[in-house]
Amino acid sequence: MFIQKVLRVNSKRINKYLCRCKSSLSNYDSNENKTHFGFQTVDEREKSSKVHAVFESVAKNYDVMNDAMSFGVHRLWKDIFMARLSPTHGTHLLDVAGGTGDIAFRFLKYLNTLSPNPSTKEIKGKVTVSDINQHMLDIGKKRAEKLGYRTGENIDWLLADAEQLPIENDTYSAYTIAFGIRNVTHIDKVLDEAYRVLKPGGRFMCLEFSHVNNDFLQWVYDQYSFQLIPVMGQVIAGEWKPYQYLVESIRQFPNQEHFKAMIQSAGFSQVTYENITFGVVAIHSGFKL
Ligand SMILES: C[S@@+](CC[C@H](N)C(=O)[O-])C[C@H]1O[C@@H](n2cnc3c(N)ncnc32)[C@H](O)[C@@H]1O
Repeated sequence: MFIQKVLRVNSKRINKYLCRCKSSLSNYDSNENKTHFGFQTVDEREKSSKVHAVFESVAKNYDVMNDAMSFGVHRLWKDIFMARLSPTHGTHLLDVAGGTGDIAFRFLKYLNTLSPNPSTKEIKGKVTVSDINQHMLDIGKKRAEKLGYRTGENIDWLLADAEQLPIENDTYSAYTIAFGIRNVTHIDKVLDEAYRVLKPGGRFMCLEFSHVNNDFLQWVYDQYSFQLIPVMGQVIAGEWKPYQYLVESIRQFPNQEHFKAMIQSAGFSQVTYENITFGVVAIHSGFKL
């Protein structure tokens, strides 16, 4: 009885919270220069500095918190993501919003599992990790050193906004963005840039939190996200707000079909998506033909 009562009260609180989210979304739709930052409606110019502040404050605990919040499952999602990309000899990858390097390191590790190129006897592939936050990149560089990857050899680091990449047209054969695109101000500009910097034949792949396709699981997921994640942020990292932003930003991100349509609008072909863990995350893929 007591547990039922607690769950009912909590459900009401979460519903109220989600209604606030919907009303902030309708504000967002009706104001051209407004956007969302979690459930808040903010001026477009404010969003990137607010997002920057979030990642500035979480950078030092970023990897520990990822493990804690997902019980390590984010590692599995990233492994699946890399297996779907299945890079080969010569893949030239741009990992945007690459943070502390998780995707880049998986890419290099994956290449090492391939047998050497029969003609050159070498395993070759290169990755550029790009992020708007130098602090995240610095942590990535330290991790790379520990793993024995040398900057300039098979990994490069680029401080850049995903909406305006300082990269020439048709440069990379693959573009990845993992848990990054929901933080940007203009998703459409990021997709346009992805299309521009990819070579014809190049592949775009995105790993992002998405929308759960089962009502009961959605309810469990909401309880976990809104009741526990900010508390874990406070206890483990001494920060509540960035982790509240994290769960709110997940709810604001377009659903699987909507995001697929956005990727197609940017010009990509053969756009598909795959739900993982009932849609908690989804992998979207498209080609520049
Ligand atoms: C949740 S982290 C993901 C990091 C990494 N891809 C991973 O999967 O662990 C999101 C990253 O997006 C970066 N970011 C946010 N807005 C960005 C933008 N406009 N351009 C490039 N990076 C951005 C943040 O600095 C942060 O490092």
